[in-house]
Amino acid sequence: MKIIMLGAPGAGKGTQAKMIAAKYGVPHISTGDIFRANIKNGTELGAKAKEYMDKGLLVPDELVVDLVIDRFKADDCAKGYILDGFPRTIPQAEALDKALSAIGDSVDYAINVEVPDENIIERMSGRRACVGCGATYHIVYNPTKVEGKCDACGADLILRDDDKPETVEKRLNVYHEQTQPLIDYYKAKGILKEVDGTVDMKDVFAAITDILGE
Ligand code: AP5
Ligand code: ZN
Repeated sequence: MKIIMLGAPGAGKGTQAKMIAAKYGVPHISTGDIFRANIKNGTELGAKAKEYMDKGLLVPDELVVDLVIDRFKADDCAKGYILDGFPRTIPQAEALDKALSAIGDSVDYAINVEVPDENIIERMSGRRACVGCGATYHIVYNPTKVEGKCDACGADLILRDDDKPETVEKRLNVYHEQTQPLIDYYKAKGILKEVDGTVDMKDVFAAITDILGE
């Protein structure tokens, strides 16, 4: 099972990808999480990525593509994977197709989680991320049991650097210009599935499991 999650920043791709990974036993590969881990660990890649991320811009394709394609080669990807945040540009999608077709493989589904721009700012300003394990919450829609502390590991929760309203607006513009064209790209391949991302997380997940099967 090879799945791509599409959708605007804050549409709930990460939330759903984690649930899909848990149910179907395939790894969740988030390029945003990979970059944030590199920033946290002070790597050279992290320093380069941060320059773009803090401005709400995409990290250049050449820093992303090989990283993801190398990740597929790991043993845990034998049964498939869920890609969250990749591909994000047409050149990234083409590089992915090329790498997969070279091994006689292809993506099964591209799931587009649809949420209008009006809802996105509220989603992002209320999002809180765990500094320990990376779990994601929302102060209204998915609150923790103890305010400011992760349910899973007890570490502190923070607002992501790129979730400030002015950066969110830039990320939305970048999404419409560079990532939204992927919807037509996957529609043309006949693997696009659309789900309404404005409903409760559990209902979004139910719509996705209807597509993927039990
Ligand atoms: P990335 O981390 O991928 O950010 P993004 O695509 O902007 O997506 P988000 O993580 O912000 O949102 P999400 O859709 O996962 O939503 P979530 O589930 O958290 O990338 C960050 C940056 O890295 C990019 O800007 C770029 O610079 C760089 N980058 C990454 N990949 C790249 C690539 N391939 N190429 C180039 N650059 C790249 O949900 C959001 C909030 O809403 C949460 O608080 C959640 O609890 C809540 N929520 C979720 N679902 C619901 C619901 N149904 N109802 C109510 N609330 C909900
Ligand atoms: Zn945690």
